[in-house]
Amino acid sequence: MIKEIRITPSILNADFSDLKNEIAKIADVSDLLHLDIMDNIFVPNFTFDFQAAEAIITQSSLPVDAHLMVASVDSIAPAYAEAGCDSVTFHVEAAADISMTIKSIKSQGSRASIAIKPETDLNSYSDFLDDIDMILIMTVEPGFGGQSFREDMLPKISQAKKLIGDRPIWLQVDGGISERTIEMASEAGADTFVAGSAVFNSDNPAAMVQTLRRLAQGKYF
Ligand code: DX5
Ligand code: ZN
Repeated sequence: MIKEIRITPSILNADFSDLKNEIAKIADVSDLLHLDIMDNIFVPNFTFDFQAAEAIITQSSLPVDAHLMVASVDSIAPAYAEAGCDSVTFHVEAAADISMTIKSIKSQGSRASIAIKPETDLNSYSDFLDDIDMILIMTVEPGFGGQSFREDMLPKISQAKKLIGDRPIWLQVDGGISERTIEMASEAGADTFVAGSAVFNSDNPAAMVQTLRRLAQGKYF
């Protein structure tokens, strides 16, 4: 069985002063660009304000998935869809009205995705599976790149895979994905992989993306 794999490099660990060149390094071999938006409220770190993010979104040669780690996301998410993101991912923990936020993202023509922090129970959000295009199971506490993959999240990935069933929903993992961990995440059911430090701290980011893709494909090829 051929499994469709998507590798979505995160630029969190890239050189922010030369993002154009950093994105160019991986553009030909990657599926999407993962853009981490942090507000220093929902997570204790800050990345880009909306203007800076919009500039990256409009200039990126890759379609962008914005991972919004921001508080009060209901009113913020639609603007990222409107800015041209292919996909907008928001945290259920930060949303007051999840259904409305999904709808407002989709009404701008973007894919809508919900993200679940490690300590958040997945079952409470299964009702939204009929409305979303992707679910993100965080495999680290959001906020920083370069953390270790939480193997205790593997059962949650499998649980998400089971809940998704036949629906065409992508199952994404984010945090600590590397040559060492991608196979176990894929075997648990993930098909869409964020990789930050593994890609951008490597001597050859494009080759690393290809290695990760091959490992994720593993026996499913
Ligand atoms: C962490 C971010 C991740 C981060 C992943 O909160 O959401 O996307 O960039 O970085 P690595 O792959 O280094 O764990
Ligand atoms: Zn992320």
